[in-house]
Amino acid sequence: MSQSESVTMEKIVALCKRRGFVFPGSEIYGGLAGVFDFGPNGVELLNNLKRAWWKANVYDKENYYGLDAGMFKNPRVWDASGHTSGFSDPLADCRECNTRIRVDKELAAIGIQADEKMSEAEINKLFDEQRENIPCPKCGKKNFTPARAFNLLVKSNLGDFTSEGGEPVYLPGEACQGIYLNYKNVVDSMSPKLPFGLVQINKAFRNEISPRNFLFRTREMEQADTQLFVKPHENKSAFEQIKQDRMNWYLSIGIKPKNLRFKQHENLVFYASDAWDIEYNFPSLGFDELEGIHDRTDYDLKQHMEFSGVDLTYLDPETNERYIPWILETSVGMGRMFLAVLADAYHEEEMGDGIRTVLKLRPDLAPYRVAVSPLLKNKPELVAKAREVFLMLKKEFGNVAWDDNGNVGKRYRRQDEIGTPYCIVIDFDTLGENPDLLDTVTVRHRDTGDQERVNIIELVNKLK
Ligand code: GAP
Repeated sequence: MSQSESVTMEKIVALCKRRGFVFPGSEIYGGLAGVFDFGPNGVELLNNLKRAWWKANVYDKENYYGLDAGMFKNPRVWDASGHTSGFSDPLADCRECNTRIRVDKELAAIGIQADEKMSEAEINKLFDEQRENIPCPKCGKKNFTPARAFNLLVKSNLGDFTSEGGEPVYLPGEACQGIYLNYKNVVDSMSPKLPFGLVQINKAFRNEISPRNFLFRTREMEQADTQLFVKPHENKSAFEQIKQDRMNWYLSIGIKPKNLRFKQHENLVFYASDAWDIEYNFPSLGFDELEGIHDRTDYDLKQHMEFSGVDLTYLDPETNERYIPWILETSVGMGRMFLAVLADAYHEEEMGDGIRTVLKLRPDLAPYRVAVSPLLKNKPELVAKAREVFLMLKKEFGNVAWDDNGNVGKRYRRQDEIGTPYCIVIDFDTLGENPDLLDTVTVRHRDTGDQERVNIIELVNKLK
């Protein structure tokens, strides 16, 4: 069975719950739409992805620096960024049952090219032409209000002791503003020369009207951003390079080329002069945005300079000129990255006399590097030797699983579903029942199911 035939969002969601990757947020209270929690295996995969992404975007590059900005910001930031006025989705209400729809998504679902960046007038023109073809998803009637822009920023009452909500401090609508706010601090403290990059993984929140498709559209998310500051008008070739680098990175972490593609935006978001998505072929969804790559020109620094009154120009040490750098951005939601990597690694295939589910994750991304088991858990001598091996490997790799539940076959299936690349079994031959095999263990390979006998003292090097 090929992966594309067998993998569905339903199966991914079920695997994530069954194997401790992702749980619905606040589940025992009936959940909270658009929020998910990462479980013990999920947080390992998520952290491994963050580490791999950080290495590629900070350590493997020159002149790239990390940051971690506070989430709350002065309310003026979101006026300057354009979010209080221009960060919205077009919504309409059903006049019969009050159900709210996202008009751009409903139009797209019936094949009409529309998106949230269109003006209210543009989207209403298309909506009016198609009203007969868009029934309310709840009551089936076709009696909607006109579409109107609904702002996506999430308000808080931080520092507001009046309960009047006069000047809300917003949760970040996009993480990158924390980078722009610290651009001057970094220039002053680190003296980077253009072009230089600032990199951050941080939270963002959006009042999505219809969070859906599991981790694809959530209300709380983490964005992994790179912002490259370049000389004005020196954007074109750097932009092309960034696009290729980002695509190559997805290929390098094992995503199949057939599931990735570029798409250029037709309608540009308010801050961008050119924008591309890297799209992934998500299960049950098809190709959709995985990562955004935006040429933001000098929009952001210019806006912050004007609204804050602080000089954000860069003094070119070579020419002594002052100018506002242009910004090239890459931004990916960690949830979407997680979903794409997990879906791509998901395989159902025949093994032995049944079908197994296996996550063929790149070994350094898998939640566990290796699992260790005693052949039988009621034989103290096997358990003692297995624990010795377990502790030795744990000291070396950290993320090592101890698995003595059920028979060995069941343990292999369980570790396959988690994506553990190697399973080690300590048996009676390890203890010397067959003297030729004394101090050797069975190493079973996830992707092929092949097994080999390896001496304990060679294990660490072999696994590395
Ligand atoms: N700073 C630019 C920015 O925020 P964006 O295209 O709105 O651009 C960047 O978002 C990325 O964040 C997207 O490509 C996607 O991976 C992720 N993202 C955006 N909205 C999301 C949501 N509601 N749920 C999950 N991920 C989301």
